[in-house]
Amino acid sequence: MRTRTISMLVGGATAFALLAGSPALAAPPAHAPGLAAKDTLAAVAPDGLRIGGAAAGGGHHGAADYPDPFTSDEPYRDLLAAEFTSLTPENQMKWDHLRPSRDEFAFDDADAIVDFAEENGQIVRGHTLFWHSQNPAWLEDGDYSDAELREILHEHISTVVGRYAGRVAHWEVANEIFDDAGNLRTEENIWIRELGPEIIADAFRWAHEADPEAVLFFNDYNVEGLNPKADAYYALIQDLLADGVPVDGMGLQSHLGTMYGYDPTLPENLARFGALGLETAITELDVRMEIADGAEPTPEQVADQNEFFEFVLTSCLEESSCGSFTLWGASDLYSWVPNTFEGQGSATPWTEDLERKSAYCVLQTTLLSAQPGGEARAAHHPAYAGCRAA
Ligand code: XIL
Repeated sequence: MRTRTISMLVGGATAFALLAGSPALAAPPAHAPGLAAKDTLAAVAPDGLRIGGAAAGGGHHGAADYPDPFTSDEPYRDLLAAEFTSLTPENQMKWDHLRPSRDEFAFDDADAIVDFAEENGQIVRGHTLFWHSQNPAWLEDGDYSDAELREILHEHISTVVGRYAGRVAHWEVANEIFDDAGNLRTEENIWIRELGPEIIADAFRWAHEADPEAVLFFNDYNVEGLNPKADAYYALIQDLLADGVPVDGMGLQSHLGTMYGYDPTLPENLARFGALGLETAITELDVRMEIADGAEPTPEQVADQNEFFEFVLTSCLEESSCGSFTLWGASDLYSWVPNTFEGQGSATPWTEDLERKSAYCVLQTTLLSAQPGGEARAAHHPAYAGCRAA
């Protein structure tokens, strides 16, 4: 049951910079009393670690019974501004959102996120340029020659990355190019199918040409642990680096579920990509569970979810190459999970009413503990007892 009343945005974006280490903190917005300046994930994150969130909009939200979250829901926007130092457009930079036709680019929604991030001292992770999913019909069903397709991709990457050069710090250039067995998606991915695997390197080269400063990532799910799919990335990236292709990072989406367990080899996996000289990132973390719509999780599910969030965050905190930690959803109301996985939900650290769950407290106190002298401070944090067993 979706109960929260959504307040519409009446004014402009709330400027509320909370970058760790930023010299001046703006006062918290009056209408979000829960977000006191020192009491957010962003505020307690150690230097060098970006805390990210998906900016909800497009995709499955288009069919939902609420207005577009990012542009309409003011308390949600305040939460994004206060909790995060990095934002990922959930759908607004995907091909089907940006490209109504071969001749058009529709940048309004993406621009709004980049502007908002700048006003709030946040970086943006661009998502994504090369994928088998959420492509427009004019592309997937078009009848193009190889030369035309190559030109379509080149133009798209140059135009999109070029538009945001200097403003989108990280690009998740290629998304989900391998299947779980570690085979390239040679049928599903239009670019690989039609143009061959060499096009992957071109996508990175074109992105680098359009913004030489942008940090360029691969990104995928089910690559958290040491497994065949992660091995496939590890091998491909070594080949690409040997050829001088500008690959800078490996993103682990981390869509987890309490009923599946987590792979304890995540630290080793992050470390091996880091040892290649790459930046690593947790890019889309959520922890779903089997739960009826509107039901409360059992105490066991809560404990499991807390443990999963803590494990992934700790793995990132302890790996020096891991520069950002992004949550895929900052409210169960907007989470993609119930829409995509029937009978599953409660996957984010915030309820549908934007109340913090104990998973939030676990993340916050884990971040605090990672600060110099932070363990004692975390133990004295007012919320600590609420999320940790004695
Ligand atoms: C999801 C969005 O959250 C939904 O709104 C949309 O309907 C489908 O895509 N891996 C990715 C993300 O890289 O882009 C996906 O996002 C989730 C899985």
